[in-house]
Amino acid sequence: MEELLNRIEKLKIVPVVVLERVEDALPLGQALMDGGLPVAEVTFRTEAAADSIKAMCEAFPDMLVGAGTVINVEQCKKAIACGAKFIVTPGFSEEVTQYCCDNGIPILPGVCTPTELMRVVNYNLPVAKFFPAAQYGGLKTIKALAAPFPQMRFMPTGGVGEANVREYLADDKIIAAGGSWMVKGDLIRAGKFDEIRDLTKRAVELVQDL
Ligand code: 3PG
Repeated sequence: MEELLNRIEKLKIVPVVVLERVEDALPLGQALMDGGLPVAEVTFRTEAAADSIKAMCEAFPDMLVGAGTVINVEQCKKAIACGAKFIVTPGFSEEVTQYCCDNGIPILPGVCTPTELMRVVNYNLPVAKFFPAAQYGGLKTIKALAAPFPQMRFMPTGGVGEANVREYLADDKIIAAGGSWMVKGDLIRAGKFDEIRDLTKRAVELVQDL
């Protein structure tokens, strides 16, 4: 867990990817690598997720490929079997969190309330995903949520973009920010991987001094 979190903290941004076609996985992975962001949270929102994770892990062994939108243990097992190096859940799931903790699988559980955060703290997990960040009050809410749990850090996602990513990352409660702004679905569908690479580069440059 610690090694993973160190890597995520250094990368600062975690692209949240929705892949509808497995054949887009490799050009997408290449675009992220070329853009300087060798990390992806591939979401289980599509049928293509598991095979996309597998393809990316095989082609880019140095890339930090994780699974997002994991809502049950079955998906979690599938993601790990395909090579996923970490699990992200959109909300708090007792069964997925328990399974990951029992099996030494790094997990960032989703939270947006103190009650959910208490559950995460009880599993001794150091980082939660705060989702959907913009709609639940952004950094201001994270700071208030974090007050009773000074050891906790957060990965906000949902509404993070060029306009606010620096504000999040400048706060030491934030380990990294997640978002889809450099890997938008319409760019993937249109095969605009050069544009994805350029947006990725821009994102990396935007936060490099933080
Ligand atoms: C997620 O699952 O983390 C979000 O869908 C990403 O949010 P965004 O599309 O607003 O960046």
